[in-house]
Amino acid sequence: MNRPIFDEPEKIKALDRGNMLSFCVNSAKLYGEAAQLAKKIQINYPEPDNIIVAGMGGSGIGGDLLKDWARTKTDVPIEVNREYHLPKYAGKKTLVLVSSASGDTEETLSTYLDALRRKCMIYCVSSGGALLENAERLNVPYLRVPGGMPPRASLPYLFVPLLVCLEKLGLAKGAQDELTEALKLLEKVTGDNAPQKSTKDNFSKTLALNIGQKAPVVYGYGFYRSVAMRFKQQFNENSKVPSKWEVFSELNHNEIVGWERAGDLAKCFSAIFIRDADEPMEIHSRIEITKELLEQEGVDIFELQTQGNSPLARMLSTVCIGDFTSVYLALLRGVDPTPVKTINYLKETLKQNGFREKVIGELAKL
Ligand code: PA5
Repeated sequence: MNRPIFDEPEKIKALDRGNMLSFCVNSAKLYGEAAQLAKKIQINYPEPDNIIVAGMGGSGIGGDLLKDWARTKTDVPIEVNREYHLPKYAGKKTLVLVSSASGDTEETLSTYLDALRRKCMIYCVSSGGALLENAERLNVPYLRVPGGMPPRASLPYLFVPLLVCLEKLGLAKGAQDELTEALKLLEKVTGDNAPQKSTKDNFSKTLALNIGQKAPVVYGYGFYRSVAMRFKQQFNENSKVPSKWEVFSELNHNEIVGWERAGDLAKCFSAIFIRDADEPMEIHSRIEITKELLEQEGVDIFELQTQGNSPLARMLSTVCIGDFTSVYLALLRGVDPTPVKTINYLKETLKQNGFREKVIGELAKL
C-alpha cells in the first residue's frame, strides 16, 4: 500500500494551506493561552435564574460543551440558543453569554439585540466585529479574544471564558483544576496523534483511514453529547463530508430502526462509538447491543476509547482526537481543511436581504 498522504510532510504542507493541523497540534498551548486570557474576565452579576449561550457553528459548540460539563455541577439551567431571538422566558434574570469568533454573525447579533432589549445580563466573547463595537459603546462587559483564525480553531478561546464566567459567578466549582488536568492530557494526546507519528501508532490517522470514503456517524452519551456534535461539525467543515451525530440512549428509541432496512445505504456509513472506561452499566449494555445491530446491517464500526479523569479532561482530549481525525480525513480526501467556501458564499449571498444591516442599525440606535 502507498504511504497515506498524512505520513508525507511535504504533501501535508502543500494541501493543508490554512494550517489547520497546527491548531490541533497546538491544542494544549491554545487552551493554556485561553486560560491566561480568561483571568481578565470581570463579571459581576447576581445569580441568574438561567443561562443562555448565544452562538452559531464553531462559536456555538462551546456552549454545548459548557452545558454538558456543568450539567451535574450547577443549579442553573443552561441552554444554547441558535435562533435569531431568545426564548420567551429570557428576561432580566437571564445571563446571556454571547459567543462569536467574528462578532459579525447575524443570528448572534440579532439575539444580542434581543438580550439588550429584554435587559438581560450579558457577557460577550469575541474577537471584535459589530458585537464588540456595540458592547464597548454600551459598556456591556466582554472579553476580546484573538482573531484571524477559523472559528472552529478558536474553540479554546471561545469555550474557556464561558467556563471561567460560570466559575467566577460561583455557579460551578472545579473548572480550574479540571482544566489543569486537561492541559496535561492534551499534551499527551497531541503528541500521540501528531503528524510525525506514523499511521500504525497514531489513532486519529488510523481512524481517518478506516472511515475512508464513508460518511461518519458519531455516537456519544452523557457529556460526550456535545463531543459527538463537535466531531460531526469538524467532519463537515474540515473533511467536507456529510456526517451525523446521535446520543445514547435516545438513539435506541428511533435511530436504530433507521438501520433496519438500510440495505446498501448502510455501507455508506462508518459508525464511531465514543467509549469510556467508566460508562454506566446501563449505557454500556446499550452500546454493546447497538454495535451488534449495526454490524449485522453492514455498517463499519469503530470505537474511540476516551482518556482522562475529570469530565473536562475527558471531553477536551476526545474533542482533540476528533479534530485531528477530521483533518487527516480531509487530507486523505485531497481537500484543504481550512476554507469553508459554502458558508462564506451563503453569508455573502444573504447580505442581499439586508437583515444583518438592519440589526446593526437597530443596535446603533441603543
Ligand atoms: O466554522 C465556521 O466558520 C462557522 O461555523 C462559524 O463559526 C459560524 O458561521 C458563526 O460565525 P462566528 O463564529 O464568526 O460567529
